[in-house]
Amino acid sequence: MLVSTSSVVLTWALVATAHGGVIEQRQTAPSPVPAPAVVDAIWDGKCTYPRPTANFSLPDYLGRWYQQAGTPFLFTTGCKCITADYGMNDDGTVSVLNRCELLNQKIDISGSAAPAPEAYGETAAFVVTLNPQSEQECAGPNYIVQETNDIYSIVQSANFETMFLLSRIQDVPSNEVDNWIRRAGELGTNVTNVIKYDQMECKFSNSTAA
Ligand SMILES: *[C@@H]1O[C@H](CO)[C@@H](O)[C@H](O)[C@H]1NC(C)=O
Ligand SMILES: *[C@@H]1O[C@H](CO)[C@@H](O)[C@H](O)[C@H]1NC(C)=O
Ligand SMILES: *[C@@H]1O[C@H](CO)[C@@H](O)[C@H](O)[C@H]1NC(C)=O
Repeated sequence: MLVSTSSVVLTWALVATAHGGVIEQRQTAPSPVPAPAVVDAIWDGKCTYPRPTANFSLPDYLGRWYQQAGTPFLFTTGCKCITADYGMNDDGTVSVLNRCELLNQKIDISGSAAPAPEAYGETAAFVVTLNPQSEQECAGPNYIVQETNDIYSIVQSANFETMFLLSRIQDVPSNEVDNWIRRAGELGTNVTNVIKYDQMECKFSNSTAA
C-alpha cells in the first residue's frame, strides 16, 4: 500500500472496543489516493512521452537488471524472477533478453533496442522491438529511462502506460522497492496498479547466472 505523504489527510476515530478495556484507534478514512504528479513530457501529436534522463551512459546501463516492480504487462503476467540483460550488438543496437519464471518454466523473450529519433530525447529513449512483436501504436520510443544510477532504474513507455522498476541486485528490501515506486510516482507513473515482483528462489536467474 502506497502512501503519498503530501496528499494524506488522516481522520481518526476512537473506537472503543472490549479488548480488556483497551481503547483502539482505528483509521476510518478511505485509503489515501496519491495526488497526480504533474511532470514535463514530450508530445508528438499522437502520444505523450516522459522526458528521458540526461544522466545516461549506455555502457553503464548494459548488463543484468532485476525487475522489482512494474505495471502489469502482457509478457510478464504471473511471472517471478524477471530479469533483463542488455548487451551491445555489432550494428550499434542493444540486444535485449527478458527472462521470467512462470510455473517453474523459463520464458525468454529476446529483441533489440535502437535509439529513438533525437526529437524524443538525445539519450536514454529507445525503440525496443521484441520477438514476439507487440503492437506499437506510437511512433516514438517505447522504452524511456527516466532515472538511473548504479542501484536502480525507472523506465516508462509511451503515454506513461507501462513502468518497469529495475535494480542491479536481486534481493532488495521491500521498503526500498516502495521508495522507488514512490519515486516513479513523482516522475508521472500512476502507481495504483503497480505490483512488486518476486525475486526469491529463482530457478533460472540470479546474481551469478549469465
Ligand atoms: C490511476 O489508475 C487507476 C486505476 O486504473 C485509475 O482509476 C485512476 O484514475 C488513475 N489515476 C490517474 C491520475 O490517472
Ligand atoms: C548518474 O549515472 C551514474 C552511472 O549510472 C550513477 O553512478 C549516478 O548515481 C547517477 N547520478 C544521478 C544523480 O542519478
Ligand atoms: C541461484 O541459482 C542457483 C542455481 O542455479 C539456485 O540454486 C539458487 O536458488 C538461485 N538463487 C536465487 C536467489 O534465486
